[in-house]
Amino acid sequence: MMINKRVKKAVIPAAGLGTRFLPATKALPKEMLPIVDIPTIQYIIEEAVQSGIEEILVITNSNKHCMENHFDKSYELEERLMNSGKTKEVKMIDEIANLANIYYVRQKEPKGLGHAILCAKSFIGNEPFAILLGDDVVVNKESKPALKQLIDAYQGVGASVVGVQTVAENQVHKYGIVEPDKRHKTKDERLVKLSGMVEKPKAKEAPSNYAVLGRYVLTPEIFQLLETQEIGAGGEIQLTDAICRLLDTQAVYAYDFEGTRYDVGDKFGFIKATIDFALGREDLKDDVGAYIQQVAQSCKAATKEEKEV
Ligand code: G1P
Repeated sequence: MMINKRVKKAVIPAAGLGTRFLPATKALPKEMLPIVDIPTIQYIIEEAVQSGIEEILVITNSNKHCMENHFDKSYELEERLMNSGKTKEVKMIDEIANLANIYYVRQKEPKGLGHAILCAKSFIGNEPFAILLGDDVVVNKESKPALKQLIDAYQGVGASVVGVQTVAENQVHKYGIVEPDKRHKTKDERLVKLSGMVEKPKAKEAPSNYAVLGRYVLTPEIFQLLETQEIGAGGEIQLTDAICRLLDTQAVYAYDFEGTRYDVGDKFGFIKATIDFALGREDLKDDVGAYIQQVAQSCKAATKEEKEV
């Protein structure tokens, strides 16, 4: 089945407290923490735009003004840069302000991801839409952006598609885990039909080790379900629970997307992203690469010394 409803709108929930990055996030939204020199939310918005998204709604809270400023035009800064002949920098900051049509709405109470998405109900209306979670940055040099892969899968099946990748068994308790419908085969081996979904299960109870990693294309019927969704894991209204209920009336698929995903909501994940992104940059890769080798050598020497004592 080919569906001609285009996916033009995306929702980016960014109302979390960023507790895992305190004290940095006391006054700075975690979405503004930079990987090298680009705030994490900019990578997310760029992926949405490269996937064909035209309108983006960011769900914020009262502490997120600087995110709005980042994607706005900054006349004063542009003028100062221009006066000092920094035309390259002027072009760069101007491009950020023209990335997409970005709108903001506040989530007034921190009631969970499902509740944050419900705040987008009137913005989305009756269209299929995308969700990108800010903690999951996905890099894709070889193929299409992760969200574009999901949108293409959606166009093919005409039903909601969640983006998954395999995680280790001892990691399943951190994620929404999908239950593949084993009776149903699709032509694309990356695409599986679902029979269930569970938020943050214990390893023993997990129906698979396919974890939802921050990318969704959903049909608008999800909103009616979110409106009546009861509190779930962690005392929050969970998007996963509403998608699981959507399965009672519609098909839902999981797509095992290609790309390297970084959990930038986690300190180690953030450090890994910083190192890899720096190594991917022409202006930094030689210095950073040489420094990493130097660090690795001194770590090796320290371990050898410890063993000898
Ligand atoms: C959220 C979702 C979860 C998903 C995860 C990673 O959890 O609720 O289903 O697997 O993001 O994208 P959180 O990390 O906000 O606890």
